[in-house]
Amino acid sequence: MTEPNVTVDPAVLEGLDAWRALPIKQQPQWADAAELDRVTAELSKLPPLVFAGEVDQLTDRLARVARGDAFLLQGGDCAETFDGATADKIRNRVKTILQMAVVLTYGASMPVVKMGRMAGQFAKPRSSDSETRDGVTLPAYRGDIVNGYDFTEESRRADPDRILRGYHTAASTLNLIRAFTQGGFADLREVHSWNKGFSENPANKRYESLARDIDRAIRFMGAAGADFDSLKRVEFYSSHEGLLMDYERPLTRIDSRTGNPYDTSGHFLWIGERTRELTGAHIDFFSRIQNPIGVKLGPSTTSDDVAKLIDILDPNRTPGRLTFITRMGAGVIRDALPPLLEAVKNSDALPVWVTDPMHGNGITTPNGYKTRRFDDVVDEVKGFFEAHREVGTFPGGIHVELTGDDVTECLGGAEMIDEETLASRYESLCDPRLNHKQSLELAFLVAEELAVLA
Ligand code: TRP
Ligand code: MN
Repeated sequence: MTEPNVTVDPAVLEGLDAWRALPIKQQPQWADAAELDRVTAELSKLPPLVFAGEVDQLTDRLARVARGDAFLLQGGDCAETFDGATADKIRNRVKTILQMAVVLTYGASMPVVKMGRMAGQFAKPRSSDSETRDGVTLPAYRGDIVNGYDFTEESRRADPDRILRGYHTAASTLNLIRAFTQGGFADLREVHSWNKGFSENPANKRYESLARDIDRAIRFMGAAGADFDSLKRVEFYSSHEGLLMDYERPLTRIDSRTGNPYDTSGHFLWIGERTRELTGAHIDFFSRIQNPIGVKLGPSTTSDDVAKLIDILDPNRTPGRLTFITRMGAGVIRDALPPLLEAVKNSDALPVWVTDPMHGNGITTPNGYKTRRFDDVVDEVKGFFEAHREVGTFPGGIHVELTGDDVTECLGGAEMIDEETLASRYESLCDPRLNHKQSLELAFLVAEELAVLA
């Protein structure tokens, strides 16, 4: 994006490396420093994955969410894998998000900003640097962009070449997403076809009947001479956790129009609960780029933390710049969220508030599966809407871990997945995800909550 004639403030460039002198968490120990240098030098010359204009457009869309005029749907894998970047899996996930978006747009009569946890969600924070199995201790799996999941010394070695593979996998994923969302597949007149290939269940039936209504409305408007350009395409944004600095920094470029830095690895980056300390490397780095930024907030967050995050990350109070993604837990959200909402409401900031109903509700079953109860997920979403109703703020969106496949990773839902069934198709390398049906079910529930607001 840089052009020779753009005047770049040297202080801006220097600032992009200020994080290197600050305390940093959750970074791998690369075995070979020279190899890392070679990789980051190569990455910094590769083309950007997203463009500054698109990123600014997203900030504008999120500003509408902040004002209560649109809703954000952010969904995708807990951890994308290189092997999982297949046409079928990407298509099913995009279809699932489109279906959820239709349910929300129709049910709430509100524009929906569509965003994937996709095309870059390869790095994972871990609670421990190492993992021990049967007396053998190896480095923890930090996501495909760092090391392999297999429990061998070779696989668990942090390999810088994986950073480049991450870039190329993100590029091909994003390319397919762009093709699907711009090339006719996402045309609203295809609303029925997105349901094909998914098995029978109550949420699917409900979807079919909604799709019939939409079809009829479109045919009516067509007969009445309406112009359908906006029905043909969707804006679809990419996002991932901004965690691995050896990926994010080399992909950060100066925009030739403005001289401002953009992290071109994705449209939207969020900072995790584990890396958001105010004086740490991540907050410093992401405070300096133009992309809209999210911050995850857990149950122990104080109003003071929130006020300080706003001052650092959104000093100009730009609507759409800052999104808080709360992950409180179903039993806690009704108590923990309202005080934060209240404090921000009484300030001059207007962040977007999003609920992540997944991460506060993890459990481990007696047979050893990391899972979540669908009922808890639903309950946290309801608690989120209740908290906003109570305070008079706008519930701006949901952030969910989902797949378009028929996995059995979360308990419950209309098919009533139980502890025994979990074993049949548990495929996640990280956290349990909603399957296609559970995702649709959740969308209907959110649409009902939103319809009440309208
Ligand atoms: N472009 C519009 C939008 O994004 C309408 C639309 C087209 C749409 N295809 C869609 C909405 C698929 C939801 C899902 O809202
Ligand atoms: Mn997760």
